Amino acid sequence: MNPQADKSVITTSVALVSALVLLATALFMVASLLGTFDSASPEDDSRRQAAVLERIKPIARVSFEEPQPVAETAGIKIADLSGKAVYDQSCAACHTTGAANSPVIGVREQWESRFAQGLDVLVDHAINGIRAMPARGGNPALTDANIRDSVIYMLEETGFEVATAEETAPAEEAEAEEVEEAEAEAEAEETEESEAE
Ligand code: HEC
Repeated sequence: MNPQADKSVITTSVALVSALVLLATALFMVASLLGTFDSASPEDDSRRQAAVLERIKPIARVSFEEPQPVAETAGIKIADLSGKAVYDQSCAACHTTGAANSPVIGVREQWESRFAQGLDVLVDHAINGIRAMPARGGNPALTDANIRDSVIYMLEETGFEVATAEETAPAEEAEAEEVEEAEAEAEAEETEESEAE
C-alpha cells in the first residue's frame, strides 16, 4: 500500500471519530441541560411560593366597602330574599364578628336588653340606623320587609321567640295563623263555659 493513501485513511477515520465524539458530547450536554431545566421547573417554584404565601397570609381583612346588592345581579329580586339571605349578605359582616361593638348573633346576653325594646323598635333602629349601626346595614336597596325578616332571623338564631303575627307574611302562613288563633279562642271560650257551669 502506498503510505500516502494510508495516511489519508487514518486522517479520515480520526476526523470521523472526533466528529462522532463531538456530536455525542453535544447531545449529552443538550440532554443534561434539558434535564436540569425540567427538575427546576418554574411550576415547582411557584407552588412552593404559593404554599409560603398561604402560610403567612393575614388572618383576616377589614373591608370598608359598601355591601353590594349581590342578589339583584343574579336575577333574584331583593324583596324576595329570605331573612337569612339578607343577614348573610348585609348584616353578617358586623353581627357575626361583633365589629364596631355590634351585638353578636347567637350571644343572648348581648341581645337581652335590646330584645326588651320590642321587635318594632329593633326593626326601626335597623332601618334608620342607631349609633354605629348603619341604616339598613348600609344597603339602601333593602326593603323594610327585608330588614324586618333579617332582624327576626337574628333574634331567632340568638334563641328568642319572636312573635311575628303582625308580620306581612305570605297569605298561606297568615291563614294558618288565623286558623290557629281561631282555634285558641274557641278553646278559651270552651274552658270559660265549662268553668261557668
Ligand atoms: C357596619 C356594621 C354593621 C352592619 C353591616 C349591621 N349592623 Fe346592626 N349594629 C351594628 C352596631 C355597631 C350595633 C350597636 C349599635 C348601638 O347600640 O350602639 C348594631 C345594632 C343592631 C341592632 C340592635 C339595635 C338596638 O336597638 O339595640 C339590630 C336589630 C341590628 N343591628 C340589625 C342589623 C341588621 C338587620 C343588619 C343588616 C341588614 C345590620 N344590623 C347590619 C353594626 C352593624
